[in-house]
Amino acid sequence: MKITIRLIVSLLFVVALVAVIFSFYQVRAEKIRLTSEMERRAIILAESLQEAVMPLVQNNSLSRLTRLVERFGNREKLKGIAVLDIQGNIMASTPDLEPYIQQPLPQAVSSITEKRSVDGFIDIKGKKTYIYTTPLSAEDKLIGSLALFYDASYIDVRLAGIWKHNLLRFITLSILIVVITLLIVRWSITGPIAHFAEWMRELRMGKSKISRPVTTIRGDVLAPLISEVTQLAKSLAVARMRAEEEARLRVQAESLWTANRLKEHMRVELKGKKLFLISNREPYMHTKDGRNIKCITPAGGLVTALDPVMRICDGVWIAHGSGEADREFTDANDRLRVPPEEPAYTLKRVWLTKEEEDGYYYGFSNEGLWPLCHITHTRPIFRLEDWIRYQQVNEKFADALLREIADEESPLILIQDYHLALLPLLVKEKRPDARVALFWHIPWPNPEAYGICPWHQEILIGMLGSDIIGFHIQFHCNNFLDTVDRFLESKIDWEQFSVNRGGNTTLVKPFPISVSFDSDLDRVTAIQGKALLRENILKEIDVYAKYLGVGVDRIDYTKGIPERFRAIERFLEKYPEFVGEFTFIELGAPSRTHIKRYRDLMTEVEEMVDKINWRFQTKGWKPIVFLKAHHSHEEINRFYKVADICMVTSLHDGMNLVAKEFVVSRDDKNGVLILSQFAGASRELKDAIIVNPYAVEEMADAIRLSLTMEPDVRSERMKRMRNVVKEHNIYRWAGNLITTLARLRLPDVSNEKFE
Ligand code: G6P
Repeated sequence: MKITIRLIVSLLFVVALVAVIFSFYQVRAEKIRLTSEMERRAIILAESLQEAVMPLVQNNSLSRLTRLVERFGNREKLKGIAVLDIQGNIMASTPDLEPYIQQPLPQAVSSITEKRSVDGFIDIKGKKTYIYTTPLSAEDKLIGSLALFYDASYIDVRLAGIWKHNLLRFITLSILIVVITLLIVRWSITGPIAHFAEWMRELRMGKSKISRPVTTIRGDVLAPLISEVTQLAKSLAVARMRAEEEARLRVQAESLWTANRLKEHMRVELKGKKLFLISNREPYMHTKDGRNIKCITPAGGLVTALDPVMRICDGVWIAHGSGEADREFTDANDRLRVPPEEPAYTLKRVWLTKEEEDGYYYGFSNEGLWPLCHITHTRPIFRLEDWIRYQQVNEKFADALLREIADEESPLILIQDYHLALLPLLVKEKRPDARVALFWHIPWPNPEAYGICPWHQEILIGMLGSDIIGFHIQFHCNNFLDTVDRFLESKIDWEQFSVNRGGNTTLVKPFPISVSFDSDLDRVTAIQGKALLRENILKEIDVYAKYLGVGVDRIDYTKGIPERFRAIERFLEKYPEFVGEFTFIELGAPSRTHIKRYRDLMTEVEEMVDKINWRFQTKGWKPIVFLKAHHSHEEINRFYKVADICMVTSLHDGMNLVAKEFVVSRDDKNGVLILSQFAGASRELKDAIIVNPYAVEEMADAIRLSLTMEPDVRSERMKRMRNVVKEHNIYRWAGNLITTLARLRLPDVSNEKFE
């Protein structure tokens, strides 16, 4: 607007200046024209009068002079005539003029003195009057003068008229200038600029099409600008499109890892290479059930998580063949294709003697390292003979692995868990070109707790043979780095989270493990409706209850099972209205039963169940149903689906996949998860009811809160947890871990010879 005003004011100023100058000259010219016209008239009249007046003046014939003057004194615009003597005094004049004529009349005196006609303007009766005097001479002798008086007031009127007319013209012009300027500025400048600005704003906000301004913005003033900005806009649109596309791909890539996506990703990353996975526990175990042989999937998070990954990536899974009937199903190279019903990858079984299994698995791994890493107040036991077995078995796994990778260049190796802590170095020593990741599925303690292991240095050195060591959460990575810092000569990079020791670098990173979201177990409820399923389950367990809770565990002291039962007992004590209404079903898989602590735990759990049931049970109802058996995923899923609550009360747990499996199974967006704050999963599943399993009162209240939670709150919480697991699923875990491993820059080993 400012510019418009400035433009208008400047234009008006120029126009006004021009108008004033022109008017001034016009008025001056008009004044000259009118005056000379009057002069001309006066000259003609004076000349014609002179002849008649002269003899009368000479003869001093005043009466005749007076008559003559009166006769002529009444013409158009002529006000009057005066005849003056040589002194400039009146001899005769038009009667009503005489009193107003100054005597001697200066113009008459001047004309006699100068002997020429003199004219000028005087004021008579307040009116402008033109006076013309001419000398009268007879025989070369001045005898007087003749003065003619004309009314000149019309000249001023005429000149004022010109000024007025020009002023009007100026005003009209000014109005036109203002209007036209406003229109032009609006039409050609401010309008298009505003339009243009609006277009650019829309463009910036991604609402407009780049082609728009070229066709719709008026005003060629902006044409060069439009063309430039259109180019700019095009580049912006292209950049935006690319960014959006990239973001979309990234979001898709990050949030929606599916089996197919992982498959495609692996094809690109592995470039046809096989993946080698080594764990103690095998994914498929052939066991004997009387005369029958069954193939079961062992309980535990490791197998649950990794089987879907191997099904996609193919490759070889090397594990202890621990099933009684395992040998019957392997070929001459101890291999078989699994899963049996839909073979997708190779399982290579490693055979252990009873002594090896005792020392390495039950002894060092599960009586030593397991309680060492889990802070659950179960004392670790370290025996030299177990340690020796542990080393031997790690070497045995190393031999099996080295044989498998003999023909593979730069193989990718994923070693699993605490049973195989020495394996990374054993492999790297022989195959420095291998890319080795060790994933630690259980927590890592602080250096003080870890330091009680007599072979703490050897274990760390073995682990650091890896290129990557993965834990579920950053906290365990930090504990591990602190431990290395405390016990080994090494350089810790706290920015990269890596350890450099003797020129080798090991990256220590969190990779929170998960489950697959696209569970085909959902078919179970698709076939059976939820109500029917619930009815069937109640029939199976032979109780009637309005509310159902579920717990799924290996019977392990880290899982907080007695603590959970104590909380259930306290809940019924504290909220008796739930007696007869709430039943908790524990699906407990016996585990590591050759270890006394586990047998004791089983006894403790059974006794507790018995005691609590005895205390509260009524006819047709009991508070706890303990289903002590190995359950398949399909079976477990049925219970997840009908439960009002699922309790995960680990005293210490790397992740705990039961929590995530429960969430995945609840496609009805129902059910409440009660989750221990000491399970790694609590870092991700923030919408669970997070509890301290050691706090009985808090746990009892959490059960009540969960059972009485408003349906929409329950559903919102479940929806959010499902989104977390959907995004952070096992395919993403595998994608991240394998990509990180495949893209690591290893030291150049091309000149080293492989044995
Ligand atoms: C935990 C461990 C796994 C183990 C699983 C089952 O999840 O991290 O390595 O396989 O428990 O224990 P088990 O001793 O039966 O293999």
